[in-house]
Formats: sequence, structure tokens, C-alpha cells
Amino acid sequence: MTITARTRVAIVGAGPAGLLLSHLLAQSGIESIIVDQRSRDEIESTIRAGILEQGTVELLDTIGPASRARTVGHRHDGIELRFEGEGHRVDFADTVGRAVWLYPQHEVLKDLISARLAAGQDLRFGVTAEAVEDADSARPRVIARDADGERFVIEADFVVGSDGSRSIARAAVTGSMTGGYFREYPFAWFGILCEAPPSSDELIYSNSPDGFALVSQRSDTVQRMYFQCDPDTDTAAYSEAQLWDELQKRVPGTTLKEGPIFQRDVLRFRSFVAHELRRGRVALVGDAAHTVPPTGAKGMNLAIADVRLLAEALRTLLLEGDERLLDAYPETASRRIWKAQHFSWWMTSMLHVAPDATDFDRRRQLGELRTVVESAHGRALLAEAYCGWPLDA
Ligand code: DHB
Repeated sequence: MTITARTRVAIVGAGPAGLLLSHLLAQSGIESIIVDQRSRDEIESTIRAGILEQGTVELLDTIGPASRARTVGHRHDGIELRFEGEGHRVDFADTVGRAVWLYPQHEVLKDLISARLAAGQDLRFGVTAEAVEDADSARPRVIARDADGERFVIEADFVVGSDGSRSIARAAVTGSMTGGYFREYPFAWFGILCEAPPSSDELIYSNSPDGFALVSQRSDTVQRMYFQCDPDTDTAAYSEAQLWDELQKRVPGTTLKEGPIFQRDVLRFRSFVAHELRRGRVALVGDAAHTVPPTGAKGMNLAIADVRLLAEALRTLLLEGDERLLDAYPETASRRIWKAQHFSWWMTSMLHVAPDATDFDRRRQLGELRTVVESAHGRALLAEAYCGWPLDA
């Protein structure tokens, strides 16, 4: 097959990780090609989580005014943990002097795509990567198929798989699509978007005998909420009135402001970390390397943290011929990955009610919540993880 493109870094996947990586590489004068099988419109309209760590916002600042996280997004200085009918505030400013921003992931994607296209980035939508080859050589390749079904090859100095949880690049690194540390959960989230005023200024993470609910926001007129459900739930099985009942009963002590529900989805829960994050001249970042359950919104933030490390490792490799940071990448990235795995698992297990939970489990869980909210150290531990550990650590 003929080689129809050459570049320094071939990036598979135009999610937040791939797009930010191309930006950071360009800042060092390193050119890249990004391919994604989805259309621009599909990428910009996929509904995902809405919380950005402070460090994520600071990195997005480097794309300039195209980042609207601070102007359109909202800074949040705390969250509420709610259980036994009472709310307990975890104040971020008081405990860790940091904050998060509520700014949905698809808005981040719009910002990154417009900034990259304005900078002349070679960004190819509707192009499906079919395989990554020759990881152990100095010229790894992406075998791709364009929108017309024509196959072509991108040859690069380095290939990055930022192609999400169903990554095709992963096989070039781990030898299989699935090889990794893995955990499933016996529940999922039913997510809704509705037209209503906010029910709360800050996010409410609520534990109740009926299960978990999260009250989040999108704007003054659109709200995002989730409630714990069975993973096999059919989104059409509930009437709007039933959805409001399910939500209301999971946030006892709060009255939700209701309005028309215009979008429903079920989010499945998995924890996953690939056994390997790099092989030769191919590395994985973001969901291609790991998945977290959504509680605590670590997914995109963790992807961004991987990218920050890998961008620096590629800069020293490609401009200085120094492989040390690249050799260290799997180990360095893994430290944060496993902290985020722990945090996401912890928030999930502390707040949800497992279908087989005993009375003992239930009372122990309430004891755990009380341990956190009644201790300045407990609140600080949670706030530190929620706002994000320093990216330089
Ligand atoms: C949102 C999602 C999360 O998983 C979370 O922990 C907080 C907020 C959201 O979509 O708004």
C-alpha cells in the first residue's frame, strides 16, 4: 500500500486528548496529523461530563481566547454531599484553595477544534484508522480508510492512540484489544437533560436508600441530572413523571425544579487500565489507556494529564533525541491514573447502593460519609482529588 502522508506525530482520535496534544506539540514546532472516524458535528454534539479540574482549565488557557471555559463556564468552589436527608458542603477554597469549572466536554471540543483548524492543523474527520503497525520500528504507521472507503497509510516518527475506550491503537501496544486491569459495577446512571432553572447553585452528590443521584447544571435554563439505575435499563421505559419521581426520591430534603426532559441516556460503569501504555514508538492516552466510572468526573481530566506528560516526552524525543521522559511515561502516568482510579471507585462505592448491599454495608457506608464530612481532613482529601492533584507532581 502506498504511503500517502508523512508526519512527525500521527494522532488517532480527535477527542480532548488528541486535540490538546496536537496543540502542545505545535507549540514546540512539532507537526502532527489527527484522524477521527466521526464527523466534526458528531464529535461536537456528544454529551459527556461537565467538570474541569483547575489544572485542565489552566492548560486550556494556552489555546488563547478560543477557550471559553472561564467565560462561558462557571467556577464552582464546592459541592454538596447529601445523605440521611441532610446536605454537607465540601468547600474547595477553604480546604485546598482550588476550584473546578462546570463546562461541558463538547464545548471544550468545539473550542479545541476551532483553535486547531485556525492554526492550520491537519485534522481529518470521517477517516477510520484500521490498524497501527510497526510500533517497534522508527517509522510506525497508521493504516486508515478515508470517507470514500479508500485505504491509505500515514507514516510517522511516533503514533499516539487517543481513540477512546474502543481504541484500535491499543492492540499495537498491548497485543490485544482487551488486555488490562478491569472492574465492572452492578449499576449505571440514567442521565437526563431538562429545561428548568437550577435546583441548586452547586452540584449535589446524594446517597439515599433508593440509590444515588447527582444534580448538576448546564446553564440558567438547562439542567443535567443523573440517577442510579440497572445497567440494562431502557431509556424509553420511563415517563417524564416517573423520571422526576425517581430523581426526587433520591435527593430527600431537596425539592427539584422540574421541566421538560429533552434528552435521556444510560451511562455504563467500568474501571479499566491497559496493562501497557507504550510500546516502542506508539503510546496510549485517555480512554484508550484507561476508563473510570463517571462519579467525580475524572475521565477527561485524566486524559488531559496524560497528554501533558506525553507532549513533553515527545518534545524531548523528537527535538533532542532524548528518550528518558518517554521511557518514564508509563510509570509516571500510572501514578496519577491509579490515584484517579481509586478516587472514582471510592466516590462510586461511597455514594451508590449496591443491589446486594446488606444492612451492615448500608450503615458502614453512612459511617464512611460521616467520617468524610465531619473531618476537615476528610473534606480536604476529597476536595484535593476533586479539584485535581497538581499536574507537575
Ligand atoms: C457531571 C458528571 C459527572 O460525572 C460528575 O461527577 C459531575 C458532573 C456532569 O455531567 O455535569
